Amino acid sequence: MIRKFPTINFIGNKEKISSWICDNFPKDAFSVFDAFSGGCSVSYEAKLRGFTVISNDILKINSTISHYLIENNTEILDFEDIKNLTSGIPFEGFMTQNYADKFFFKSECMELDLFRNNIEKLSSDFKKSISFSLIRRAMIRKMPYSRFNINWDKIVQLRDEDFSYEKYKRKRAYHNKSFKSHVLDNVLEYNNAVFDNKKLNLSLNEDIFLLLNRVEADIIYLDPPYAGTMNNYFDFYGLFDAFITSEKQNPFENNFMDKKSIYQLFDKLISNLQNFKYWILSYNNSSIPNKEQLLELFQKYAFDIQLIEKKHDYKITGKSNKETNLEYLFIVKNPNFISKNILK
Ligand SMILES: C[S@@+](CC[C@H](N)C(=O)[O-])C[C@H]1O[C@@H](n2cnc3c(N)ncnc32)[C@H](O)[C@@H]1O
Repeated sequence: MIRKFPTINFIGNKEKISSWICDNFPKDAFSVFDAFSGGCSVSYEAKLRGFTVISNDILKINSTISHYLIENNTEILDFEDIKNLTSGIPFEGFMTQNYADKFFFKSECMELDLFRNNIEKLSSDFKKSISFSLIRRAMIRKMPYSRFNINWDKIVQLRDEDFSYEKYKRKRAYHNKSFKSHVLDNVLEYNNAVFDNKKLNLSLNEDIFLLLNRVEADIIYLDPPYAGTMNNYFDFYGLFDAFITSEKQNPFENNFMDKKSIYQLFDKLISNLQNFKYWILSYNNSSIPNKEQLLELFQKYAFDIQLIEKKHDYKITGKSNKETNLEYLFIVKNPNFISKNILK
């Protein structure tokens, strides 16, 4: 069976260029640490190619996706699981109390509360992660612009199918389908994406700065939020972490958003990559630091530095800048790498 990366819908994902990125992994590398794994497109491609993959992201929902797709080699949802996940009577719980008429209507929040409760009854952590990922997909599908930093009036307006048809000539009826029907629509695709690459892969959920001296791999792949672009991942997806934990969450530090301190943050990152033989960084030509500044930073710590470029079209809220966006891949050999064989 040919394995296919499922529809995740993640802002700033590398799905279209994950093959190009992995084609450029050095041939003497067998393990990859995807330090900012996001929607997991690069981790998944690396797993397909037989690498041992360690994925990490500071957001719980993103590490839940990697727990389902990367660490999980075998488990899927069966008929009984799907029935258990989607049946029962909706009730007023954490989501209804905190988010009714903020992101979804009250009856929809009650459905989310029911699903959250049902997830706890599933028999394994992997099944729970698949279910969280499926409900994430349903929530994204119902949300105009697919991110959770839109105000309620706008959401209501854009979910009005007549308004949408009049203005955009599209009804976007999927915004108004139930969570359950979205889950049922996607479960086969999500199950089919699970596969075993015969490696012990791992999913982590930490601030990268707490992990750099605790993980070792041949490659560290760095795809941080690009400073200077729309990159507030907590605002986009923090609601999922609240859904998972049933607690309101606070924005995280070291988020690569502050333009003033971004150079120092990169320096702190690059100066702590001793445990990795190769450092591979994705960046683009419309973010800061710019290409020259990044090269200068790498040159402080290494001399074997390769930079390759590719045209890449990002889509955010339907707009795209097809012509102008260049995607960079910095491939750097660590001159001081000595394997310690650690994964603490
Ligand atoms: C550009 S996205 C990664 C996209 C991913 N490569 C993909 O293809 O879907 C950047 C990710 O970095 C995560 N992130 C931001 N700051 C972080 C930190 N300090 N430690 C770990 N992850 C962080 C964000 O949550 C976000 O998911």
